[in-house]
Amino acid sequence: MEAFKQQEVPLLDLERVSIHYDGIQALREVSLEIRKGEIIAVIGANGAGKTTLMRGISGLLEKRSGRILFNGRDVTRLGPQVLVTLGICQVPEGRHIFPSLSVEDNLVLGAYWRLRQREATKREIRRNMASIYGIFPNLKERRKQKGATLSGGEQQMLAIGRAIMSKPKLLLLDEPSMGLAPKIVDTIFDVLKKLHEQELSILLVEQNAEMAFSISQRAYVLQNGQVVLTDDCQYLIDNKEVKDIYFGTDDPDFQFSQNKT
Ligand SMILES: Nc1ncnc2c1ncn2[C@@H]1O[C@H](COP(=O)(O)OP(=O)(O)O)[C@@H](O)[C@H]1O
Ligand SMILES: [Mg+2]
Repeated sequence: MEAFKQQEVPLLDLERVSIHYDGIQALREVSLEIRKGEIIAVIGANGAGKTTLMRGISGLLEKRSGRILFNGRDVTRLGPQVLVTLGICQVPEGRHIFPSLSVEDNLVLGAYWRLRQREATKREIRRNMASIYGIFPNLKERRKQKGATLSGGEQQMLAIGRAIMSKPKLLLLDEPSMGLAPKIVDTIFDVLKKLHEQELSILLVEQNAEMAFSISQRAYVLQNGQVVLTDDCQYLIDNKEVKDIYFGTDDPDFQFSQNKT
């Protein structure tokens, strides 16, 4: 059984993916794997390439080299709309909800492709919405309010809720804790834990390594667009370099050695 499990095709498999912006190489041969049902963290300082990685996976950056496999299928050349229908959904950095639309309409838009492709009836959509209101009672109370009137934490909840409305197989989260008070961050991470218990696979990008490690099984450390370290979170937490950089003793100029473990 164990041997069988190990041979299971990863949900997402990046093979030496590089991404350039005009002249700048922002991602260098990143290889990364997410198995079904895992939460994987990618941590790294500002400018390390975390958002580039996310946007590369969700198809928003098309100038990619290397290979991206989703459920064993080569999706390297597919655009963001097709990838959404395959089950890859990104909650972007800074949330990007629709400010002039109500909470409810923001959620419905998350199910746009399912409705359009007749994968879901309006009744199912209403049921999905009810379950999101169950997870985020704040959103239910504010369902008629415009997105712009929500607090930062509520906007993050709405962005996550909207992503769930697309019934993703893989949820990509770009710094969900950014700019939020610790109590709100706790609420959001509790929800991620619950979604994980419901077998959703999650790729979580964070500067907040402590929070990310608290719910993830494995993590990748990104520096200057490269994976410099990867391991189970339980080991990474005890790694001296990770400890020094992400949990205290500051050395802002510290560089990881380039050996990948
Ligand atoms: N649209 C862009 N055009 C040119 N360079 C970019 C663009 N977006 C990001 N970069 C550069 O790519 C590198 C990685 O950025 P980013 O992926 O946003 O990092 P992170 O999300 O880890 O903070 C940085 O050096 C950044 O300046
Ligand atoms: Mg970023």
